[in-house]
Amino acid sequence: MVSKIETPALVFDQSELVSLLGLGLIAREKASVKVLYAIKALALLDVLEIFAPHLDGFAVSSPFEARLIKDSFPGAKTHFTSPGIRPKEFSELCTLCDFISANSLAQLKSFGSVIGSTKSLGIRVNTKVSYVSDCRYDPSRLGSKLGVTIDQVPQLLADSPTQVEGLHFHSNSDSENFHELLDNVVALINAIPKWQEVKWVNLGGGYLLEGVSLDPLVEAAELIRARFGAEVFIEPGAGLVRAAGYLIGSVLDTFEVDGKRIAVLDTTINHMPEVLEFDYQPDVVGHLDDGPFEYVIAGATCLAGDIFGTYRLPTPLEVGQRVVFREAGAYSLAKAHRFNGVNLPQVGILDPDGQYRVAKRFDYHDFASFWKSND
Ligand SMILES: Cc1ncc(COP(=O)(O)O)c(C=O)c1O
Repeated sequence: MVSKIETPALVFDQSELVSLLGLGLIAREKASVKVLYAIKALALLDVLEIFAPHLDGFAVSSPFEARLIKDSFPGAKTHFTSPGIRPKEFSELCTLCDFISANSLAQLKSFGSVIGSTKSLGIRVNTKVSYVSDCRYDPSRLGSKLGVTIDQVPQLLADSPTQVEGLHFHSNSDSENFHELLDNVVALINAIPKWQEVKWVNLGGGYLLEGVSLDPLVEAAELIRARFGAEVFIEPGAGLVRAAGYLIGSVLDTFEVDGKRIAVLDTTINHMPEVLEFDYQPDVVGHLDDGPFEYVIAGATCLAGDIFGTYRLPTPLEVGQRVVFREAGAYSLAKAHRFNGVNLPQVGILDPDGQYRVAKRFDYHDFASFWKSND
């Protein structure tokens, strides 16, 4: 099957998507939280259509994302937060979104002046609880642009007791430990005087769902309900899609340089940009730690560092052979680009009955129209 797929391709296994969705629904049930999907991870409509009937809505971070949800799922609830909003977008966002978490005091004022009574306004909080070792990905970093600091919250709630109805934080990245979320919740509760109330608390995303204990999430949600009587939301992105996606490339060339065997593929790390951004090596199907054939598996572009990594395989790679990278479902297509004119990967869905179907194909005309001026 894999050898028949036209490459480069990003393939989503529908059964795996459904089982990740199932984990989200178990978290919803056990912790009595509402579960949103953060579409920044992957906004493919085929995937959103699978999620929409089951989840409690979507988390969006721009007017385009908000419009995509309103156009495609008019009844769905949307939560919005972003540090960057253009002046003309405040009213539009209030029309498109149901829950809005202002990122700053200035945003709070701007949203507050245009938001209608059917929508709910909150504030994004930097809890200052930090578990992300690389500060580039740490929303709680010193001097973070993401949210007002936790010490500002009591004053802010006192200044606008009726207008600020919710609190939002998102403070982690790919964590497999909901104790870290619990620590954030404890910090939040401790920072806010007992008499101050909110109607909802959104705990953000940043947690993976496979094989993790949900007990600390259950405890965090119970603490919030006991303290505020508030509705609790989580908004995972990667946790609902990453493990269901595979990037597939074909070997174009193999050669040896400085004693290293190189295999050049028809895909590139630009189809999985977090390989470079996060400086990590994606897993390859078939790699064995003691495999006899070692390869530097490289992408097709002119960038010397367009390299997926060094892998050990049981047999030599042949030209035309497929190479499959795992865990490619989140932030790959959303961040992919056509550097060097290398086309974007075809997007495919593997149906539960094993049938492969192409959901999206890009071609030269997409590339040319990107570079052509509008007139
Ligand atoms: C505000 C907010 N919510 C949710 C998410 C989703 O995070 P993840 O994909 O790590 O679960 C992000 C990711 O950046 C975010 O910034």
